[in-house]
Amino acid sequence: MSEKKSPRIRRARVSILCGPILGVALLLAGCQAAQPTTEVSPQEMERAKNTLQPLKEQLVDALTGALQEGDAESAIAVCREIAPQIAAELSVDGVRMGRTSHRLRNPDNAPEPWIEPLLAAYLEDPENPKPRAVRLDDSTIGYVEPIYAMSFCLSCHGPSIEPALNETILSLYPEDQATDFRMNDLRGLFWVTLPSDTGTETDT
Ligand code: HEC
Repeated sequence: MSEKKSPRIRRARVSILCGPILGVALLLAGCQAAQPTTEVSPQEMERAKNTLQPLKEQLVDALTGALQEGDAESAIAVCREIAPQIAAELSVDGVRMGRTSHRLRNPDNAPEPWIEPLLAAYLEDPENPKPRAVRLDDSTIGYVEPIYAMSFCLSCHGPSIEPALNETILSLYPEDQATDFRMNDLRGLFWVTLPSDTGTETDT
């Protein structure tokens, strides 16, 4: 009996020790991520959301178009070429945007450091779709929205991918981790960085 208890006690001790350390570490990380302590304003949230909207719409349009034609190869081209192209075209006037994930197909889409804690927060609370944002510096905000897997995404990201398609995917992305998603799973994030509202930084 006493032998059975000891790991539990040890575990309890570890969490007592780690709790405060983790707390301080998170606090420090939080301070670093959002240097000026002002929150991103509702107006800035709205502007970020609107800035991201065309990327979301154009991507879904391009993908459904390609899939309706029944040509998986061209649908792959949409994800591979058109998606970054749309993001690049919309990334003007100090705006940058893209897609990222915790389980990547293309390692080039890895989360930037400011996105990592936000992604971790969604993974802890995956069904909470609210957008999140941080102040990156005096004049820039970073904003993210979760992407959930819809049924038509699963043909390329689901648990069973058609063999020929799977082969094409694996030949292009040998380190692919973006399979085995189910309907409504958190697939990743849309992200955008953009200039903050002028004047907010002087309020601090
Ligand atoms: C025809 C196959 C196909 C379909 C359908 C598809 N994807 Fe993808 N997806 C890909 C490919 C290929 C990439 C890698 C793109 C690149 O090289 O940047 C990708 C990349 C992504 C990424 C970027 C992160 C990463 O893993 O590199 C996200 C997010 C994503 N897909 C979400 C979705 C969602 C959501 C849907 C449904 C609305 C969807 N995909 C439908 C093939 C597909």
